Amino acid sequence: MNYQAKSDRYQQLPYRRCGNSGLLLPAISLGLWHNFGGVDVYETYRDVLRVAFDRGVTHFDLANNYGPPPGSAEENFGRILKQDFAAYRDELIISTKAGYRMWDGPYGEWGSKKYLVSSLDQSLRRMGLDYVDIFYSHRPDPDTPLEETMGALDLIVRQGKALYAGISNYTAEQTTRAVAILKRLGTPCLIHQPKYSMLERWVEGGLMDVLGQEGIGCIPFSPLAQGLLTDKYLKGIPADSRAAKPHGFLQASAITEGVISKLQQLNAIAEKRNQSLAQMALAWLLKDPRVTSVLIGASRTTQLLDSLACLNNLAFSAEELADIERILGQ
Ligand SMILES: NC(=O)c1ccc[n+]([C@@H]2O[C@H](COP(=O)([O-])OP(=O)(O)OC[C@H]3O[C@@H](n4cnc5c(N)ncnc54)[C@H](OP(=O)(O)O)[C@@H]3O)[C@@H](O)[C@H]2O)c1
Repeated sequence: MNYQAKSDRYQQLPYRRCGNSGLLLPAISLGLWHNFGGVDVYETYRDVLRVAFDRGVTHFDLANNYGPPPGSAEENFGRILKQDFAAYRDELIISTKAGYRMWDGPYGEWGSKKYLVSSLDQSLRRMGLDYVDIFYSHRPDPDTPLEETMGALDLIVRQGKALYAGISNYTAEQTTRAVAILKRLGTPCLIHQPKYSMLERWVEGGLMDVLGQEGIGCIPFSPLAQGLLTDKYLKGIPADSRAAKPHGFLQASAITEGVISKLQQLNAIAEKRNQSLAQMALAWLLKDPRVTSVLIGASRTTQLLDSLACLNNLAFSAEELADIERILGQ
């Protein structure tokens, strides 16, 4: 059956300005790292994407290597774009990245101009697109001059293959340098994509300040710590969870007694707020205005809907925040 997007989709969630730019992003964005690859079920992820768009999620995040196998998430997304979203291309913000290993030989990873330009051309072919909205350098390259990597982003934007440039996994100091180079070239850095959640707070040690000062948006990835910050691991490891899957990035060894004790205490606060733990973890990130959007994953539609409902309660009392700090500090 032909897909027709819901007419009330823009009354569902807030859109927040990405730094000082002209671009608004939905408070919740959806990433296709896991759950959209060749090993996953087409009907399931197609439904997740349709429901997301029906709920106002306009931003979908990919990378060259998402799958498994690498590239398959872009191929699958391209197929659904063609089938369901062709009429809505101008309503979508589609991002992709290059930085991690994608093909054999010296030009298949890191940050050379050769790799970034070739990789984006491949991504565009896989998704059947003329351009992406945001193209990221996925990780800093210690051996390539930053001028070359940023020069490649500038080139790609000038060629019209991406509308905006972003960086991911760059430290505060690397970000300061990258931003200055991009500014000089005339292609401002739009956005930074760091790992950030209640359980992973390295960005608070300087990066968030740089982003705030420079007017760059922040889109935290793995805001639920890959599912840890939900109620799913409170009583063991479910068979259909990321931690139980052979290709999942979440290691069962990360789910220690200490972590579970923290999750249980956080869950108790979430219950008092009439929220799920996932909802509280997302709201906790969105309280910072420098966070433009949180970039969630979802293996099924019910998870997406649960996460989206965080928007019903974004406020925290001083007491709740202090209790959360105490638990996270244990
Ligand atoms: N730039 C980078 O280097 C980088 C790295 C990693 C990710 N990312 C981006 O960030 C996106 C999100 O990362 P992520 O998938 O790790 O995010 P996440 O939101 O922290 O974790 C998503 C996983 O948590 C579980 N989950 C989600 N919502 C739930 C809910 N409401 N209740 C119970 N469980 C729930 C599901 O796990 P199950 O599968 O177990 O059901 C889901 O697959 C990626 O898709 C990608 O776009 C970027």
